[in-house]
Amino acid sequence: MDHFLYRDGELHAEDVPVAEIAAAVGTPFYLYSTATLTRHYRLFEEALAPLPHLICYAMKSCGNLSVLRTLAALGAGADVVSVGEYLKARAAGIAGERIVFSGVGKTREEMRLALEGGIRQFNVESEPELAALNEVALALGRRAPVAIRVNPDVDARTHEKIATGRKENKFGIPLSRARAVFAEAAALDGIEVVGVDVHIGSQLVDLAPFEEAYGKVADLTRQLRADGHDIRRLDLGGGLGIPYERSNAVPPLPTDYGAVIRRTVGDLGCEIEIEPGRLISGNAGILVSRVIYVKSGEERDFLILDAAMNDLVRPSMYGAHHDIVPVREPAPGTEAHPYDVVGPVCETGDTFARQRPLPPLAAGDLVAFRSAGAYGAVMASEYNMRPLVPEVMVNGDQFAVIRARPSYDEMIKRDSMAPWL
Ligand code: LLP
Repeated sequence: MDHFLYRDGELHAEDVPVAEIAAAVGTPFYLYSTATLTRHYRLFEEALAPLPHLICYAMKSCGNLSVLRTLAALGAGADVVSVGEYLKARAAGIAGERIVFSGVGKTREEMRLALEGGIRQFNVESEPELAALNEVALALGRRAPVAIRVNPDVDARTHEKIATGRKENKFGIPLSRARAVFAEAAALDGIEVVGVDVHIGSQLVDLAPFEEAYGKVADLTRQLRADGHDIRRLDLGGGLGIPYERSNAVPPLPTDYGAVIRRTVGDLGCEIEIEPGRLISGNAGILVSRVIYVKSGEERDFLILDAAMNDLVRPSMYGAHHDIVPVREPAPGTEAHPYDVVGPVCETGDTFARQRPLPPLAAGDLVAFRSAGAYGAVMASEYNMRPLVPEVMVNGDQFAVIRARPSYDEMIKRDSMAPWL
């Protein structure tokens, strides 16, 4: 459920007409709903309520300061994958003790900054990383809290670019090596082993892979405890999928996911951490765009929008589907017309949808891409010298620009002229 609904024939974000924001801000822009963010966060809270837990929002999915502050005020921690994200989470008011640091390629400098600033745990993905972290911690006279990410070799049954839990993926330590690596970690003075970490992929629409992976983590935890390790936290990653196509079956809900967690690892007495991103931010955001031209081709009609692949890359990068809806509600009985929906960028890959049935649209009309809150604005670029799309947030009947569109002047000034020119 989200809070982008038609009211009086106009798409609203909570209590604000989307067209009103478009008039004030200009298109294209991302638009987030506070009520939807809150609702989705709370679903996870409720799902995990019986267990000691921390929800570490995966800010890579949507990392605007106002989004982070909204979730922080509800009690969220953060999952970060770079020191940039770490610093931004801190700037949004999330304490270091509530931040987990994931990722296969943390540099020593990143480790140092996070250790100095305060960090809940590093999710370590390899032996060389463990050795580097040990050195950095010793140099600072600290012990770094560590969960070791294991690779359970589970097929997440999702898009190949976002599956992470197979043995051929770059992530984590193979289960067969896990006990040896935990023993190695325990022997290092700069490392304090606190738990086990796993993340098998993103946009999972089936609970079976979670069940399989978490079952393996539970077995490993028992073994590690028998080996003498104090495993007190389990970080179970993110990955729960969202409905991108309203017409499709609804993926499992956080409550069903919570039941899997309780069933598989609930009796271990560990504090549970999860790292959801998409399920919190995905359907809490839309991308609003205006039709520039309708171009009638020989075989098909093109809807040329002012948003492009640089603003929302998921369709061209993953072949992802986003529902597209007109901002003005079509009259009942309006017949749909198939359009190829494209942006102005100079490559054929800049196509959002082919032969998508939509109500007849004309130049100047507004449309919204749904489910664009996650991996939307954060993956945008300035390709073709197109300014980064602004971000706007709605809360009830208020809205605010939470990242302004840069001016062309600002964009040009970011480059500098080489001295010999
Ligand atoms: N934790 C770790 C270690 C991750 O790598 C990810 C996502 C998450 C948590 C959050 O997963 P979520 O709950 O959002 O599924 N750009 C792609 C998705 C990449 C996901 C990367 N890792 C897309 O647009 O579909």
